Amino acid sequence: MKPHRRILVTSALPYANGPIHLGYLLEAIQTDIWVRFQRLRGNECLYVCADDTHGTPIMLKAQAEGISPEQLIEQVNVEHRRDLADMLISLDNFGSTHSAENKVLCERLYIALREAGHIERRTIRQAYDAVANMFLPDRYVKGTCPNCATPGQYGDSCEACGATYTPADLKDPISVVSGTRPIERESEHYFFRLSKFDADLRSWITEGAVQESVARKLEEWFSQGLRDWDISRDAPYFGFEIPGAPGKYFYVWFDAPIGYLASFTQLCERIGVRFDDFFAAGASTELHHFIGKDILYFHTLFWPAVLQGAGLRRPTAVHAHGFVTINGQKMSKSRGTFITARRYLDSFSPEYLRYYFAAKLGPGIEDLDMNLEEFTARLNSDIVGKLVNIASRCAGFISKSSGGKLAASLADRDLFAAFTARAEQIGAAYESLDYAGAIREIMALADRANQYIDQRKPWMLAKNSENAAEVQAICTQGLNFFRTLMIYLSPVLPVMAAKSALFFGEAPWCWSTAGTPLLGTTIQPYEALASRLDMKAVAGLIEPAAAEIAAPVTAAPRAAAPGAVAPGAAAPAMISIEDFARIDLRVAKILSAELIPGADKLLKLRVDLGEQGERDLFAGIRAAYDPANLVGRLTVVVANLQPRKMRFGTSAGMVLAAGPGGKDIFLLSPDSGAAPGMRVK
Ligand code: MSP
Ligand code: ZN
Repeated sequence: MKPHRRILVTSALPYANGPIHLGYLLEAIQTDIWVRFQRLRGNECLYVCADDTHGTPIMLKAQAEGISPEQLIEQVNVEHRRDLADMLISLDNFGSTHSAENKVLCERLYIALREAGHIERRTIRQAYDAVANMFLPDRYVKGTCPNCATPGQYGDSCEACGATYTPADLKDPISVVSGTRPIERESEHYFFRLSKFDADLRSWITEGAVQESVARKLEEWFSQGLRDWDISRDAPYFGFEIPGAPGKYFYVWFDAPIGYLASFTQLCERIGVRFDDFFAAGASTELHHFIGKDILYFHTLFWPAVLQGAGLRRPTAVHAHGFVTINGQKMSKSRGTFITARRYLDSFSPEYLRYYFAAKLGPGIEDLDMNLEEFTARLNSDIVGKLVNIASRCAGFISKSSGGKLAASLADRDLFAAFTARAEQIGAAYESLDYAGAIREIMALADRANQYIDQRKPWMLAKNSENAAEVQAICTQGLNFFRTLMIYLSPVLPVMAAKSALFFGEAPWCWSTAGTPLLGTTIQPYEALASRLDMKAVAGLIEPAAAEIAAPVTAAPRAAAPGAVAPGAAAPAMISIEDFARIDLRVAKILSAELIPGADKLLKLRVDLGEQGERDLFAGIRAAYDPANLVGRLTVVVANLQPRKMRFGTSAGMVLAAGPGGKDIFLLSPDSGAAPGMRVK
């Protein structure tokens, strides 16, 4: 037997400003399967995570909702915990980066870094919003790309041409916070001297800490030279103040990974594990981080260097995965493919998603497409048609023909041995994160189990009571196949496995249980373990495109400006006069209106905005107006709404109208006397 391993595992910390979605679930499920596999093998495996709560977006979101950041992150924390628990993610602790433990640890690590000479102060120039009185992160400045002149680009890079730059390079920059033109201001920042860790990081990577494809990526970063890392931000900032630096806060990405340690501290307190066993330099325990490929830089460069610089151990491994796409496309709110954990859980078993992701997840960083038809077909064929079918076909006959008692010996020991002989391969596949490989092996065995039963047809034999012993023998063999497969699958399907263990009258299984057959004991009555998925129900996971169901007046894109109200929301959040002032409302004259094939609520409008010219936009007013009657009419539009890509094209504004919706939607009266382009106040 291998020596007992002591392992600490983390998943990346989800941001506390949004719900858990299928993308994050891929990560949580990948981590959880590995964790459960380690525990099944008898290793000590602790699993912690937390909410990532600090930074500008969370501060501004709370402001927009009229609550404190503490209230916001508290609400989200409750939801995150519930979602992850319902997805059967077996976390030992789920904390928050806004915790007393994290504050202490951030200070401790920072001071250790400072004492060791790894921190440096430098003055930098940064975009500053003189109206909102705050420095602006790159993403909070928008303007025209200096390279290709596409308007509405973020301050760090252009989505149209891919150019990267700084906010100062943008043409016509505006602050997303106040809508005014930012100025430049100097400020003193604290830098972590990452460049000094080049050689140490290179050697860490040769120790096998990352996947090969990741190592190649890192090679590129090394060759570009490691730049020192700005770890401070100026007030106002939701975070922890830096000791000895009033008005300066730790950048969210500095305190977030330390949140792993903070969450682990809480666990140590609760179960009496020693923190130093896992984090002292030279600790013999293992530390594994699971992350998505987008945050590699933080976890494979900054983080190991920070740990080492502060005199702590480095991670044993950082495991990265690719991104979930839905039906071949990026998850997106406007396409309705931003599927939250809750939306999924409202209709489906967590184990179905766990199985599907496992069946498709390899050890690399390729993206994983969730195709809803394939999801349905795969579940119905593998779980219902193959796996559960073995048990449901055999269990009834054991109950009827032999009073629930399994035979005392195996009819075909060799075939059973062929099943147990795969344990090592399957285990190795789990260990190396090749879950798809493990599932392939397991399903090939399920096929053999079904063939075994099909060839012997116990349902025919059972018609004659003289065959009782033979029926018992076949079904005992079949149920033992099922039991072995279920043990192999238990990291993926923990509830089905637990129910199956009870059905066999056994205590919770461990990996080695699979090696010995269960014989001569009495099993419990069989209860269905899984039921078929219906494609129609699965298709309902995708919400009708947001733009299509949007009604006027309350219509707001889901990823809207702070304070915007989603359709159907109970009471609109209050907005300040400043928020209101940011909305550019204009009278528009409708030049043409067209039906859109495939959209039953939308019309495509071309409107004249006077001095601002003409543009195309989409409006959900088809039920109320015949397109022909709209030409020449006036309406009010939000003229500075960021253009939105919708299924049918790009909408360059939003039509406002009054009424409850459907047929009752009212535009401006044609004889109102308003002129195109007139500002509405
Ligand atoms: N808060 C940071 C992580 C800090 S860790 C010290 C963050 N949060 S996140 O909510 O944006 O993402 C959390 C994790 O989910 C990341 O590992 C990210 O890669 C992963 N995913 C987010 N969207 C994803 C998909 N669509 N598909 C797969 N994983 C995705 O980054
Ligand atoms: Zn560009």
